[in-house]
Amino acid sequence: MADFDTIIIGAGPGGYVAAIRAAQLGQSVAVVEGRDTLGGTCLNVGCIPSKAMLHATHMLHETHENFEKMGLMGAAPTVDWAKMQAYKADVVTGNTKGIEFLFKKNKVTWLKGWASIPAPGQVKVGDDTHRAKNIVIATGSEASSLQGVTIDEETVVTSTGALTLKAIPKTMVVIGAGVIGLEMGSVYARLGTQVTVVEYLDAITPGMDAEVAKTFQRILTKQGLKFVLGAAVQSATKTATGATVAYKLKKNDSEASLNADIVLVATGRKPYTSGLGLEALGVEMGPRGTIKTDAHFQTSVPGLYAIGDAIAGPMLAHKAEDEGMAVAEVLSGKHGHVNYGVIPGVIYTTPEVANVGQTEEQLKAEGRAYKVGKFPFMGNARAKAVFQAEGFVKLIADATTDRILGCHIIGPAAGDLIHEVCVAMEFGASAQDLALTCHAHPTYSEAVREAALACGDGAIHA
Ligand code: NAI
Repeated sequence: MADFDTIIIGAGPGGYVAAIRAAQLGQSVAVVEGRDTLGGTCLNVGCIPSKAMLHATHMLHETHENFEKMGLMGAAPTVDWAKMQAYKADVVTGNTKGIEFLFKKNKVTWLKGWASIPAPGQVKVGDDTHRAKNIVIATGSEASSLQGVTIDEETVVTSTGALTLKAIPKTMVVIGAGVIGLEMGSVYARLGTQVTVVEYLDAITPGMDAEVAKTFQRILTKQGLKFVLGAAVQSATKTATGATVAYKLKKNDSEASLNADIVLVATGRKPYTSGLGLEALGVEMGPRGTIKTDAHFQTSVPGLYAIGDAIAGPMLAHKAEDEGMAVAEVLSGKHGHVNYGVIPGVIYTTPEVANVGQTEEQLKAEGRAYKVGKFPFMGNARAKAVFQAEGFVKLIADATTDRILGCHIIGPAAGDLIHEVCVAMEFGASAQDLALTCHAHPTYSEAVREAALACGDGAIHA
């Protein structure tokens, strides 16, 4: 007799969403979580606390940059670091408690502790072994370290340590110009830290539309971030006052180094599956430590499923959530499905950066005929009124059918604007469908419509 229909291991966005949906569909569900709070990396030490820090420091930046222009006079506020940290902690607690409430509401059992899977259908937590018809691994990911770099989470930190620094550093070297590096780099640059980002590739944000990446780098440079591109970091060594980062420039193999109070290592993440006992179970693994799954999220062991950062695909909370809902539906005899072609990506800097679908670079490589409609926020009245007119919307559509293939936005509220394009893509819409949709004036979203118009007879305000 099984104790539960489904046991889910990990209470991050993948695991907790799977649990709630499975319970809503009538299953008896337990979630194993070893942290003191629910929500996983995202709620505790990732998406949510970083957004609190980005918000607080954006407000500070606004007081310095734009208040006087609007006739708001007076001394700019100073930073109380302890209070800012307390605000961030409150935001986290509010959200993790919210998940606890949802578990109670949906009768999901929280098994506190770290899980292992001694045999198919069994989950061991502490001294107790629980039986389940299905087990879902939703254990997420951890920061991947770099050779020659030892992380102590005090001087040489990952994003986790960067969220709880004892003081605002004077100088910081960020290794890696990906999402974490640029979000956390922005936070500290706005707090007055001299931030230098060292990136292996010749452009920031690999995989992103090249035009957006170029504009993004220009804007961040104006905000005070420095970039060393085409540089392979060799080591980060602690010194009496901070750390030294040694790197090699790829173009001429020359070596150089930078000293900083704090070094943030943001060179990617890897699946976190240790301690589960997957090897003994004979679970087939995929590339880069991922768990191999079939189209229904089942691993090579029947009854054992996996979702989120632990399997293939972008390591994003919302991708894990979608897989969580889908696996719950599969396990309830329904047809859970994730459309991997329409998963948005957002960087929560100012301006925000967002994308969905294919880039021009990908379409060129595929030899596909496409057209581009571009609209600058300079032509958007609302953006101009609030000093956020930098950036643009770039909509890409099929040259023949006009079907929307992708969208790339850098500008105000890009992370929200992208979703009308996501919905349009889910419905197989054309650029003209978007262009013919009435958009309220004055809103940022008019820039999306104008980009769609630019795919046809032309934008009005450009
Ligand atoms: P990332 O994969 O986005 O970027 C890592 C960067 O480090 C790359 O540009 C890479 O070229 C560079 N790099 C690697 N080795 C290097 C070396 N030796 N020297 C110099 N540069 C080197 O990884 P990141 O920023 O750590 O983020 C991890 C994961 O978390 C990503 O999958 C990301 O999507 C996710 N995440 C998403 C957020 C969001 O959606 N807003 C926020 C934070 C994280």
